[in-house]
Order: sequence, then C-alpha cells, then structure tokens
Amino acid sequence: MSYKIPLFNLNYDKTEEEAVLDVIKSKWISTGPKCEEFEDLFCKEFNVKHAISLANCTVALHLAMDLLNIGDGDEVICPSLTFVATANSIKYTGAKPVFADIISEENLTLDPVHVRKLINKNTKAIVVMHYAGFACDMDEIVALAKEYNLKIIEDACHGPLSEYNGQKLGTIGDVGCFSFFSNKNMSTGEGGMLITNDSELAKKAKLLRSHGMTTMSYNRAKGHSTAYDVVALGYNYRMDDIRASLGIVQLQKLKKDLNKRKEVRKYYENSLKSINNIIIPFYDNPNFSSNYIFPILISEASSRTRDEIRNLLHESGIQTSIHYPPVHLFEIYYDSLNNDLKKTESVYNRLITLPMFGELTNRDIDYISEKLEGYVS
Ligand SMILES: Cc1ncc(COP(=O)(O)O)c(C=O)c1O
Repeated sequence: MSYKIPLFNLNYDKTEEEAVLDVIKSKWISTGPKCEEFEDLFCKEFNVKHAISLANCTVALHLAMDLLNIGDGDEVICPSLTFVATANSIKYTGAKPVFADIISEENLTLDPVHVRKLINKNTKAIVVMHYAGFACDMDEIVALAKEYNLKIIEDACHGPLSEYNGQKLGTIGDVGCFSFFSNKNMSTGEGGMLITNDSELAKKAKLLRSHGMTTMSYNRAKGHSTAYDVVALGYNYRMDDIRASLGIVQLQKLKKDLNKRKEVRKYYENSLKSINNIIIPFYDNPNFSSNYIFPILISEASSRTRDEIRNLLHESGIQTSIHYPPVHLFEIYYDSLNNDLKKTESVYNRLITLPMFGELTNRDIDYISEKLEGYVS
C-alpha cells in the first residue's frame, strides 16, 4: 500500500547518483579511496580520532566486542528495548547479554540504577543504545564503568551527530557504532562505521575487518606492497567505495536534515502535548538530537489498544511502526540471565513510532494529530 504519509522518506537526489557514477567510472569499486575519504570526513564531523568503515552496524558491534576481548563466560549488560543486533553481537562472542530495564515512560534509555544491580564479577561491558537519537545518562554510565572497570560500547545507530552535554554520541565510550541502513539518518543501503579515540583499538579494527591481513588489496593494487601476512583471525567486514561515496554525500547533507527534523519534532510536540492519553517520551529534551524516529506512548487510560490505534492510522494513510519488540521476548533469548523487565514490557505494549523525516510538513503533522486525537480519546 502507498501511504498518504510514509514513516520515512529517503533523502536522496542527483548528488548521490553522480557520486556513485563517479566511483563506477573510476574502475575501483571495492574498499579504497572513497572509504578513506568517508572515514576522514567522519573523524572531522564527529571530532574523533579514528573511524573505520564497515559493511553494517551489526558487524561493527561484533568487532567492538572482539576488540575489547569479550568472550566465553563474560556478561555484557544491554537494553532489551533495542534492535536485536545489539544483543546478538554479544551472543556471537560466546558472552551472555544481560538485559537492563529502561528509565521510565518519559525516558526510554537504559536505567543506570538497574544496570548497577546487574553488575557482578563476570560483567565485562555495558552496551548503551541512544534510543531515537536521545542520549543515555552517560554521566552515570561512565561513573559505573569507572567504578567496576567495565568497557562501554555505544550503539549509536539512532544518533549520528546527536549530543550529550556538547559531546557527540559514539565518542563517549570506548567504541561507538553507527548504521547506514536505508531507513537511518544516513543511508547507504547497508553500511556501518566504528569510531574510537583509542589508536590501538583502531589499528586492531582495521586488521580484523579484512581477514587479519597486513595490507588491503587497494594498497597492493597501487603497487605499494605485493605480499601480505595474516596475523589475526579476522573477517570480511569491509565497506565498498560505492557505498562510501553515498556515505560522503549523506554526511555532507546530515546537519541540514537534522535541523529540519528538529523543527518537525518541535511542531509535533506542540501539536500533541495537549491530547489526552498521549505521552511524548523525551519531551523538551535539551540535547541536540538526530531525531531518528518519533515515538509516542498511549497511556494506560486509553480505551483503545495500541494495535487498534495503529490500524486506524493505517486506514487513514499514516504509516507507523514499533521500535521495538523487546529482545528478551524473542525465543532465542527466553533463557537470558535477567528477563524481569517490567517497564520495558509495559512501554512496548503502548509504543507507536510516528512518521519522522525532514520533509514532513506542518500540514502532515496537523493531519496526524487530528487523527490521533480522534482515535485515542
Ligand atoms: C539500534 C540498532 N542497533 C543495531 C542495528 C544494526 O544495524 P545494521 O542494520 O547496519 O546491521 C540497528 C539497525 O537496524 C539498530 O537500529
């Protein structure tokens, strides 16, 4: 079905087409100069020392675990209200994901008070996920990590250029990971980036993303080196130059798009704040946010269920989604170490993600608000 108002709108124009065409004409389409250019631009924009382009964020998260020596017998605390890849990346290593609850209906990020309760001698790291582009309580998380000597991995898929007290998300922990999947703030189809200020971790990440080989094929093709050794058990987690060329254009456009999203959010907040039975998480949040998605909650007092309301919105041509079915409720996670997550479950049953993109008009938002008001009251 084609919607009157879609959930998301790909921010592409002629610039992306031309960028890809240039790479094709250059005759070098795999990892090469465009990946390097994308990484350099990322470092500049995110004010971080190292950026390593990768095939997607799932492998970025897995690589992050590997870099931090997380493996068999270790426990890693993470949210359940996230995309499944956050937890899967822990499980790949043989470590156990331990799910922590969210703070509240108003703040859907990881609760540091609950995290503290889950820490034990096996705990090695905390994975935070900056839901919708809003920062986790990083002061508390960093303090916990210091107290218990834990690593921090930031799943910053939702938050490129989002900030926490002036610092870019993804640069606060040991490693930050980003996704450029089609519906993200920056889209390359598939794609990911790992960032860090730790030069040793960056060196290891570069090695492991390409089979543990001491040189990459682009360097060999340029004639700098003909031989290579394999010094670690690595993977093929590389990005290619076609996607990197898209990433460069998308990054150049990002700030402008985020400023538009900020206005969209402001208009949404003003339109929805007086409607009974709607809670707006992160209302009036002071930090700069990517506004990757716009989630609302239906209050417990509503006579219609979340799914009934979503169906009515669908019939009115408004596309919605749910971010996310909690990971601990998936079959492969039934036997996890902590599945007592009352706030996560309560919120999940009432969450709706409304359309959010830079080109969303005030008229669109008026239409969504008017329909919602009719359906929730
Ligand atoms: C929070 C979160 N973590 C991880 C991922 C995985 O990213 P990718 O699809 O690039 O592997 C996504 C994206 O889908 C995500 O939203």
